[in-house]
Amino acid sequence: MREAMRTLAHISDLHFGRIDPPVAAGLTIELQRLAPNLIVASGDFTQRARASQYREARAFLDQLPQPVLAIPGNHDIPLYDVFRRFFFPLSNYRKHITRDLRPVYQDEEMLVIGVNTARSFTASFDGFWKDGAISPEQLLDIELQARDTPEHLVKILVTHHPFIPPPGERVHGIVRGATEAMIKLEQHGIDLLLAGHLHMGYSGDVRTHFEATKRSMLSIQAGTATSTRRRSEPNAYNWISVEQNRVTIEVREWRGQAFATRTTRTFNRLPDGWT
Ligand SMILES: [Fe+2]
Ligand SMILES: [Fe+2]
Repeated sequence: MREAMRTLAHISDLHFGRIDPPVAAGLTIELQRLAPNLIVASGDFTQRARASQYREARAFLDQLPQPVLAIPGNHDIPLYDVFRRFFFPLSNYRKHITRDLRPVYQDEEMLVIGVNTARSFTASFDGFWKDGAISPEQLLDIELQARDTPEHLVKILVTHHPFIPPPGERVHGIVRGATEAMIKLEQHGIDLLLAGHLHMGYSGDVRTHFEATKRSMLSIQAGTATSTRRRSEPNAYNWISVEQNRVTIEVREWRGQAFATRTTRTFNRLPDGWT
């Protein structure tokens, strides 16, 4: 049973251009030492989507153990360069991080699907510019990926924008289309949702936020791994151990010299969900 366990390092919101260099160096050392089965990087690689910031992010990624599954965040689209923002929003991302905007990782234990929720057109009446979206086409894509996957695989969806807000907070920052998405993700048998964006680490069952959802899906949020734009939390990332019926989330936070475990939460899959 133990050998069926997979380890996953969930890093997010690196924000090259505004990073704390000792933290980035410490994270590289830690991930090289721990060598997870997969590193998930859930967006905001840069602060302003500049080529120089992307080059720094690329140099950082090159030092990490592979494979790395990456998706972009809202900061990976230029904000002030309006021409690029609307016509070539992810040109630098594609050049320096990856050309693959629909990344998928699969092994004998888990299926991990990355979805790009960053959008150029976000100043709409129903959302603030930095809140991303998930589209019907992307949900169809997820369905096609998940459909032919063996039942026992743990199915993990990675987005930049979260599906549930931090405990006790209002709805801000939630991905647009989340309510519609929940219906589909439930049908497609998704088990875990990994995201970032809010620079706060927390986790919970989506059913606490979506009353219509029957399926228990765990939403796991990572803080900012390396950015100085911290929201009253130290830099941190999630070390996630995945088994078919058990998920353990260790929040590893920066303590000035090295990363150390802040909290460990274990969820067991029981008939009524992840508890
Ligand atoms: Fe961010
Ligand atoms: Fe973000």
